[in-house]
Amino acid sequence: MNIIAHSSPNIALIKYWGNRDDALRLPAADSLSMVLDFPTVKAEIEPAKTFAVRSYDHEGIEKPQSEASINRLKKHWELSKQFLEKIGYAQDIPQEVSITIHSGIPPAIGIASSAAVFSCLGEAYGALVKGKALTREQVSILSRIGSGSAGRNSFGGYVALENHGEGIGSAYGRQIADEHHWLLHDIIIVPSCEAKKVGSTEGHALASTSPLFKKRLEQIPRRMRECIDALKTKDFEKLQRVSEEDALDMHRVMQTQTPPLEYLTDATHRIIRDIEKLRTNDKLNVLYTMDAGPTVHLICTEDSRGAVETFAQQQKDCIVFKAKTGNGSRLIPK
Ligand code: DP6
Repeated sequence: MNIIAHSSPNIALIKYWGNRDDALRLPAADSLSMVLDFPTVKAEIEPAKTFAVRSYDHEGIEKPQSEASINRLKKHWELSKQFLEKIGYAQDIPQEVSITIHSGIPPAIGIASSAAVFSCLGEAYGALVKGKALTREQVSILSRIGSGSAGRNSFGGYVALENHGEGIGSAYGRQIADEHHWLLHDIIIVPSCEAKKVGSTEGHALASTSPLFKKRLEQIPRRMRECIDALKTKDFEKLQRVSEEDALDMHRVMQTQTPPLEYLTDATHRIIRDIEKLRTNDKLNVLYTMDAGPTVHLICTEDSRGAVETFAQQQKDCIVFKAKTGNGSRLIPK
């Protein structure tokens, strides 16, 4: 019996940076993102005698998996079994699984492939349960324990990842508004395809060494409220203010942790400066945000999309991707 799931990345408007428990990927604070419709990842699982992984890239070529990557997938499977046992489904869990991943995401472009991969797997592991389906919150937990941000992919549209108490199941997604509520576009400008030297997992573990981290945690509840309000009322200006404030704040934490993490490059800063000028001059609804890399996500409304796309295409030596509000992880019916 094989199970196939499908998912895409998400882009955070209020960022997740730092954990209260690194091993369980329990975030130190709440976060919020827009789920994207592109690029997509498909994962297939099958009960097996030994744990096995095969992975194919965006060109359909099989990619050998590093030991670190296999260990991470294996750890996610072990934690998933632990969680499923805890919520009463021990009898449905096979001893091991064989996993096949088909990723449509080109490597190192600054689009979170881990969120898409682990939300596919969370969705698929959840479907091992026979009888009554897991809740979307439980699927979100299965995704989160593989990659924190993947916990925001078990719903469509705009999703918060919120903390509730203690233990493996104590952080999960909540849908703020579905994908039909407000169509926003994400025009993604990739200035460099060099693989990042320090990944998010290592970065999260050192976030608390920044003297700015505590202050950041104090600010998050207000930013979450403002962001939720902006999304519910479709107030783009408010969304822009709070999400840019939060993205720049996360990067200041990264830059001041030990050792410091500088993900933004001269190209990133130039693109930000130019889009700020353009949006003032042309009165565009566009905001910028950056994750753990130099890639700039320009999130805009439908009426500003043409101008933002033209701006993106004009950026020299950059690759451009286009995505929009999407519908999250789901099973593919057989
Ligand atoms: C900067 O979810 O990629 O993109 O749990 O180690 O996989 P892991 O971390 P990850 O962290 C995301 C960090 C971020 C901000 C965000 O997406 O909220």
